[in-house]
Order: sequence, then structure tokens, then C-alpha cells
Amino acid sequence: MTRVINPTILIVGLGKMGSALVNGWLGQNVDPTKIHVIEPNPNQIKELNCKIINFYKSPNEIDNDFFPDIILFAIKPQIMDSVVPEYQRFKEKSTFISIAAGKNILFFESLLGNDSAIIRTMPNTPASIGEGITIACGNKNTSQKCKKYFFYLFEAVGQAEWIVDENLMDAITAVSGSGPAYVFLLAETLSNAGVKAGLNKNMAQKLSVQTIIGSSLMLKYSEENPSVLRNNVTSPGGTTEAALSILMNEKGLNSLICEAVETAIKRSRALSK
Ligand SMILES: NC(=O)c1ccc[n+]([C@@H]2O[C@H](COP(=O)([O-])OP(=O)(O)OC[C@H]3O[C@@H](n4cnc5c(N)ncnc54)[C@H](OP(=O)(O)O)[C@@H]3O)[C@@H](O)[C@H]2O)c1
Repeated sequence: MTRVINPTILIVGLGKMGSALVNGWLGQNVDPTKIHVIEPNPNQIKELNCKIINFYKSPNEIDNDFFPDIILFAIKPQIMDSVVPEYQRFKEKSTFISIAAGKNILFFESLLGNDSAIIRTMPNTPASIGEGITIACGNKNTSQKCKKYFFYLFEAVGQAEWIVDENLMDAITAVSGSGPAYVFLLAETLSNAGVKAGLNKNMAQKLSVQTIIGSSLMLKYSEENPSVLRNNVTSPGGTTEAALSILMNEKGLNSLICEAVETAIKRSRALSK
């Protein structure tokens, strides 16, 4: 990560995703005095492993002469319309970054002016342990410096990539933004199946969670793609092949995940209206 730029960051909203990012930055030794947080809910602040000293309940509490390099909106898409315009006064000096599902660049331009530098991103919660993935695109005002800010923030918490085609953001949201929930659901359902098959709850959960951790690490460190890794553990006529004949049938996991991703894409598009 490029440390040289060391920007000041104002993060608006310290919920699940906002705190995942802040925890990730703190874990990467981003200077806590450079991080400013706006969060009206005191409970969220208490929950953060707190080295941050710059807390505000609203932008009105910010000194008039403070202009952050980056303003990152980490609030729910549904309240963006009412909250974002309060930050217009920063537009000459700040780069605006959104992590909101569904809200497109045009939407932010309508609230902040089309002369503002706006970056739309989609991160995910593994960012809190430095294993996130974030994709971004920007409007015509995003300079090389703005892009550097994006990579500074998001390479600190995992992988980061810049794309040109904003239309891909709904699909990216449905695959990686929502994706951790699909994996957690797999852990839950595998564990439930173990209980149904006679294991006690602790044992079933331990087996399912560690299997997902181990398999994820194999995906990370092996040079093989997922299909090859799957084939490697599937002996002809064996137990895994028997299980996969169910998971991979017509109504199996492939069709379910495709339907889930399509539904998430539709929701992302609906949020943009
Ligand atoms: N969660 C994910 O996995 C994920 C992944 C990718 C992207 N995102 C995006 O991240 C954004 C935040 O999602 P989230 O799941 O982190 O939501 P969240 O947990 O509800 O966090 C939002 C936080 O913002 C606070 N807030 C409300 N009004 C505010 C205001 N005017 N100024 C500053 N803070 C305010 C909320 O406080 P209250 O609780 O008091 O309302 C809450 O603590 C969304 O746009 C979502 O699309 C989320």
C-alpha cells in the first residue's frame, strides 16, 4: 500500500461495513488521528476497538476549516438522499467515495453536483480481517490522485480493482458484496445437516466451519481453480460423488446460486431508483 499520501478520511456511518473498514485500516497501521467518524449511534462507537479520537454525531460538529481528503459514505442506501447533500460544502477539496449497493454515480452527482469527484465502490465485510475485495469506478472528475486514495483505503483491507464500466457494479454487488452471507449460510446449513445426521451441535459446527476455512485457504494458496480442487476430492463411486450428484443436479446449487445472484442484481437495480 502507498503510505506516502497519508490522506485524512471522514467516514460517514460506522455500522457493519464502516467498522469493518475502520478495523481493517487500524490493523494496517493507518494513522488513527487521520480517521474522522460521523456516527449518530453511540453504541456503534463503543463497539469499535477504539483508537479513533475524532468522533462527531453530525457534520455540523466539524470545524469549518477542516476539509478531509476523502469522504466515505457507509450508510444505508435508503437514507443517502437525505444525508449526502449535507456534505456538499466539502466538494471542492474532498473526493467522495460510496460503498452503497445500488446507488449509482449519477445519483451522487445529482446530490453533490456533477463537478464533484465521485467514486462508487463495492467492498465486502472480510475487509475487517484484511481479506476483502473491493471494485470501484469513478466519474469524469476522478483524477489520478482520487484513484490513489481508493487504492490506499481498499488495498489496506484486501484486494482492490478499478473498472471502467459502471454497469457491472450490480453483478459485482450480487457476487462479492453479498457473497460472504452465502458462505456463512453454507456453514449454517452444513452444520444443521450434521445435527440432523446425529452429530451434536458443537461438533457439527466445528466440522462445518473448519471445513470451510480449510477449503478457503486451499482456494487461496493452491494454483488450481475451484473445479480442479473439487475433482481432486471426488473419487469415482465414492461418498463425495454421491453427495455432489444431489448438489449438482438440475435444481441443485448451481441453479439456486444463479437465482440468488439474479435476485440480488434486481434488488441492487431497484435501490438505484
Ligand atoms: N454489510 C455488508 O456486507 C455490505 C457490503 C458491501 C456494501 N455495503 C454497503 O455499506 C453501507 C452500510 O451498510 P451496513 O450494513 O454497514 O449498514 P449499517 O450496519 O446499518 O450501518 C450504517 C450506520 O450508519 C449510521 N447512520 C445512520 N444515519 C447516519 C447519519 N446521518 N450519519 C452518519 N451515520 C449514520 C447507522 O446508525 P443507526 O444504526 O443508528 O441507524 C449505522 O450505524 C450500505 O450502503 C451497504 O449497501 C454493505
